[in-house]
Amino acid sequence: MPQTIKPLVAGNWKMNGSTAMLKEPRLLAAMMRDVKTKCDILVCPPAILTRRIKGVVKGSKIKVGGQDCHAAASGAHTGDISAEMLQDAGATYVIVGHSERRTNHKESDATVAAKAKAAHRAGLIAIICIGETLEQRKGGQTLAVLSEQLKGSIPEGSNAANTVIAYEPVWAIGTGLTASTAEVAEAHTHVRNDISKIMGEEGPKTRILYGGSVKPSNAVELMGAANVNGALVGGASLKAADFIGIIKAYM
Ligand code: PGA
Repeated sequence: MPQTIKPLVAGNWKMNGSTAMLKEPRLLAAMMRDVKTKCDILVCPPAILTRRIKGVVKGSKIKVGGQDCHAAASGAHTGDISAEMLQDAGATYVIVGHSERRTNHKESDATVAAKAKAAHRAGLIAIICIGETLEQRKGGQTLAVLSEQLKGSIPEGSNAANTVIAYEPVWAIGTGLTASTAEVAEAHTHVRNDISKIMGEEGPKTRILYGGSVKPSNAVELMGAANVNGALVGGASLKAADFIGIIKAYM
């Protein structure tokens, strides 16, 4: 049942991060010592920092994840990183199908499904991202687009333990715009119904995150919408002081 789902607050650093920035997860881990939260917490830095951040947050409940993976376990794929490599570096999650990957790297639903399958193969939890563009929303296609993406992006073998869905309206990512609580509730309830068809009895137990300009000032409201089980946070995950403000929505 949705209310028994343990929420997840995940930070997506995107192409940001440096040795100097390790102070942020270190600070977050220190802040977490005094905060009792009911959610899981995840930081997804660029893969080059996975191991370093894993070390920095050691002993805290903060988990580390990747932002993308290749579908293959190894091979001649210059510049790519496999799910197995992320797992080896200490990751327990990986984001797949983020709209920036779908746009910048022309990733199809089938590609995203193959990547999610690779994550499962490596023992990682796949965070499968979906979301409509502004044009699609204006055209009244939002729910149909989400259905299509879910149908194509969730591989066989997906269950509540190895899969998280992230609904991120493309027009709300990095723009400061957020969907209204009603829009979020509508989309998330639609996703819940769809994944219950696709994943059977696992659907009602699977976490559905909202992403798109989540910040401390709107987190409580957004996280309170129907069928929202956490957040995928970009910009506001880069500073520990902001990220903890979102995590505190689940105190
Ligand atoms: P944002 O990014 O919080 O900066 O809007 C969210 C995301 O892309 O995951």
